[in-house]
Amino acid sequence: MKLIVHLKFTMGIKMIYANTASIGRLSETTREEVSNFVNAYLKNDFYIDDYKIANEKKEQCRQIISQLFGNTFSSVLFFSSTTDALSILLSQLKLKKGSVIALPNNYFPSIEAIKLSFEKKNYELIEIGSSKGEINVDDLKNKKIDFLLIEWVNYWSGSKNNLKKLSQWCLKNNVIFAVDAVQGVGCCEIDFDIHEIDFFISAGHKWLRALEGSAFAIVSQRVSAYLEQIIYGYNSFSDKNNFDKKGREIETSLLRFELGTLSTVSFVSLFHAISELLENDHLKIAKKIRENSFALTDFLLGYGAIVHSPFNERDCTGIVSFTLPNIEPLEIYNRLLEFGVITKVRNDRIRVSPDITVDINELIQRIGLCLKGFL
Ligand SMILES: Cc1ncc(COP(=O)(O)O)c(C=O)c1O
Repeated sequence: MKLIVHLKFTMGIKMIYANTASIGRLSETTREEVSNFVNAYLKNDFYIDDYKIANEKKEQCRQIISQLFGNTFSSVLFFSSTTDALSILLSQLKLKKGSVIALPNNYFPSIEAIKLSFEKKNYELIEIGSSKGEINVDDLKNKKIDFLLIEWVNYWSGSKNNLKKLSQWCLKNNVIFAVDAVQGVGCCEIDFDIHEIDFFISAGHKWLRALEGSAFAIVSQRVSAYLEQIIYGYNSFSDKNNFDKKGREIETSLLRFELGTLSTVSFVSLFHAISELLENDHLKIAKKIRENSFALTDFLLGYGAIVHSPFNERDCTGIVSFTLPNIEPLEIYNRLLEFGVITKVRNDRIRVSPDITVDINELIQRIGLCLKGFL
């Protein structure tokens, strides 16, 4: 169905952006810092005479990511997207022939893509847990698993996995544990020990509210032995800044998995977005997002909507997913736009994902007005 926005409704109404699970909006401070950075290039006619500044900015960013996760010894590696990081790292995993890989029963296509590469290696793939992407320790018991890959928070249902319990079980049972964390970082409490996770992969452009092009992976030293490198970039060399050298050596640290030049401005935005998150206490922000999602969930249930995301405040994330009986999701989506609310249709449900700056009462009021027309 064609997307119809009735301008007579939306004209003059400030749109409420509730689609952070697709792409986050930069905060005022991050916007200012990005502008300052771009303006500095502009003044110099966009001439970059060396990459010193870029490297400094990237290292600052590595530091602040470490700080956010209380990371003292694992490696923070940079990539341009969650998908790139997942594919580049996990396609270079060398497990024993016939190893068993466990995946959730529902996931974003980034996991579908890495699944193809696992299939080519003749690993045995099993899908476990609920149809909303949840996996519990009980789903793992009595199964012979070598590698577990999950999403921290499922991309449409907003269901959150318990990383603490899962990582501890994996560690105890000698299972390599990888997490696509992009729907959790910046909106959920960091309630696990990052050192107990082997691959923790995320990006800046959703809940961290940075620019696209800023993704990272925190990789444990434990898995180094299982990574057999077959994809190299110029950053894989230990003497990467000596461009004319012949006979290069490969970097010995995990940084050898970083490939080429990344977008500095994206990492500048990520640095400032994380700084702000730390300044404002990320635990408080996560709690507020959870409370907001719970308030919206409660309201929707009261209205007779079918909610597909978690009902309990404790389990809520940034994503609220709902449908209305006998109404097409696209119809609801279009009508929400008329009321100045930007959401997304995912898995045939309306996915609402407002960031911390959205006035939750106003959002609920507008959704209520919109639903009145249907119920
Ligand atoms: C769970 C999950 N993983 C991966 C992605 C893709 O991330 P990226 O755009 O950084 O490749 C998304 C995007 O929505 C997602 O929700």
